[in-house]
Amino acid sequence: MLRHAAGETPLVVEAGALDRLDALIAHHLPGHRPIAILDATVARLHPDLLAGAPHLLLPSGEEHKTRASWSRLSDELLALGADRRSAIVAIGGGVTTDLGGFVAATYLRGIPWIAVPTTTLAMCDAAIGGKTGVDTPHGKNLIGAFHQPRAVVADPRVLASLPEGTYREGLVEAVKHAAIADGDLFAWLERELPAILARDEAALEQLLRRSMAIKAAVVSADEREGGRRAILNAGHTIAHAAEHASDYRLSHGAAVAIGLVLESRIGERLALTEPGTSDRLATLLGRMDLPILLPEGLDPQAFRAALALDKKNRDGTVRAALIARIGAMAGSDAAGWTSILPLEMVNQPS
Ligand SMILES: NC(=O)c1ccc[n+]([C@@H]2O[C@H](COP(=O)([O-])OP(=O)(O)OC[C@H]3O[C@@H](n4cnc5c(N)ncnc54)[C@H](O)[C@@H]3O)[C@@H](O)[C@H]2O)c1
Ligand SMILES: [Zn+2]
Repeated sequence: MLRHAAGETPLVVEAGALDRLDALIAHHLPGHRPIAILDATVARLHPDLLAGAPHLLLPSGEEHKTRASWSRLSDELLALGADRRSAIVAIGGGVTTDLGGFVAATYLRGIPWIAVPTTTLAMCDAAIGGKTGVDTPHGKNLIGAFHQPRAVVADPRVLASLPEGTYREGLVEAVKHAAIADGDLFAWLERELPAILARDEAALEQLLRRSMAIKAAVVSADEREGGRRAILNAGHTIAHAAEHASDYRLSHGAAVAIGLVLESRIGERLALTEPGTSDRLATLLGRMDLPILLPEGLDPQAFRAALALDKKNRDGTVRAALIARIGAMAGSDAAGWTSILPLEMVNQPS
């Protein structure tokens, strides 16, 4: 078990952990009455989860990560008589951990919760760091709270039922974590990729442990953002613009794969990134069947407009967190963790 300063949240990564979820909950939330908020698809595919324990179902899909769901679940907790000794156990993908965590953050001004991520994305990213919240018609994650879970429980066995595309797209964040902070993990991934793609439990335990620990360490150093946490946005400047320009037909994971490669390519041309970095990223992500170039049909004008939108929030420049070489970032506390992306290079990144 690993601990990190962001609330000293224990990270339990173990094949079979869900078989002893009741015991883990009792251990990490002693004296509390657990109430699960469970993704409906996960509930259907894994009916043994928390058999008998009280639970509330959340219909699957990003479209349910709303204030309406928050309000309904909060009312259901009130109807169940949940009090200060109650605790939320959010079981599902990032939608469920974000929303379940937000319900916990606001119910009676905050009750404890445990995150039980069941997708690669939620394990590697969403369940770590204490950011919770919901979407609004004005944009994603605009209403929320920082509320650290008491523990994160990740069981690689539950990933067996995840659709192939969702499985691979979520792993992009693990590739990102290795690329920004751990060159040995990246080399390990290059060697062990076949086992990871075969969902080998022992290999997944290793990858998840190391990837989750990287995010936890970065976040705990900068819990409310401003400084080094920006390195978690590697690949994301271009990713967000590409997602937006594609009207969100491009998945987040696919967009980050493209962003990691293209931002490194620009970094190489700016002599901020070691030559060969973008090729190594492209090779690994290509072996995972992820895209490494902007889609042919993507409207260049819409892409530029989306980047410019990013620009508006800053000093008139587009910035990105660039990788110096696999395992290390180009920035520093003194110089800042992001670099300017010259627009003419972004428009023609290859
Ligand atoms: N809080 C953060 O720091 C943070 C970071 C990154 C992403 N996020 C959020 O995470 C969300 C995306 O997470 P996601 O990709 O996990 O999406 P998701 O929760 O929608 O899950 C994806 C799909 O997989 C299904 N599913 C979940 N577990 C399954 C399993 N074991 N087997 C079969 N199907 C399963 C779900 O029902 C859903 O249809 C977004 O809302 C994003 O904003 C949050
Ligand atoms: Zn991301």
